[in-house]
Amino acid sequence: MNDDQTHVQDFFTAHAADWDSRFPDDGPAYAAAVADLGLREGDRVLDAGCGTGRALPPLRAAVGPSGVVLGVDLTPAMLQAAVRAGRHRDGRLVLADVAALPLASGCLDAVFAAGLIAHLPRPVDNLRELARCVRPGGTLALFHPIGRAALAARQGRRLTPDDLRAETNLRPLLARSGWRMTSYTDEDARFLALAVRED
Ligand SMILES: C[S@@+](CC[C@H](N)C(=O)[O-])C[C@H]1O[C@@H](n2cnc3c(N)ncnc32)[C@H](O)[C@@H]1O
Repeated sequence: MNDDQTHVQDFFTAHAADWDSRFPDDGPAYAAAVADLGLREGDRVLDAGCGTGRALPPLRAAVGPSGVVLGVDLTPAMLQAAVRAGRHRDGRLVLADVAALPLASGCLDAVFAAGLIAHLPRPVDNLRELARCVRPGGTLALFHPIGRAALAARQGRRLTPDDLRAETNLRPLLARSGWRMTSYTDEDARFLALAVRED
């Protein structure tokens, strides 16, 4: 376990038990973001940094029983909370670091990542690892149920120009990682960046 991983685990272990009850009304926002990912019946999709698995039910609904839904997270306590919530019935839960996924190259059609990117220690390398696992033409959604400004206010910090998720930073970051950004939304009630895996 390296320092970055220990930091993530310590932070999210402390929040795992009450994670869902802190944000009880987010369900429709997750369902809408999954809908925008354009999944089809039978697709194989990864929820990267799945946490308590809030996105797993809409992801399963989108790909149907013939599809594959994986939820990967680094924090055992978050995955345990996902099991307690019954979300293991919607997708297979895997304890792993998205920096080194135990997946074959090109095996996925899409990646959904909610609230993950701000926690990645090496965003270019880590997003490239997600790209490695997705077939050319496959898709990525970077989602958060509130926008950047609202999140900064909630966390008591100011938005700075070096914010990774600012459009002017995120577009080149994705391009360097094997992704082409196709849409960008940053509103009070949603942050959603969609991208396509380059050939
Ligand atoms: C803000 S929470 C979001 C959880 C969930 N996606 C949601 O929307 O409720 C971020 C999650 O990402 C996980 N995480 C952070 N860095 C990770 C990494 N390198 N690999 C796998 N999971 C990671 C954390 O353990 C945590 O569960």
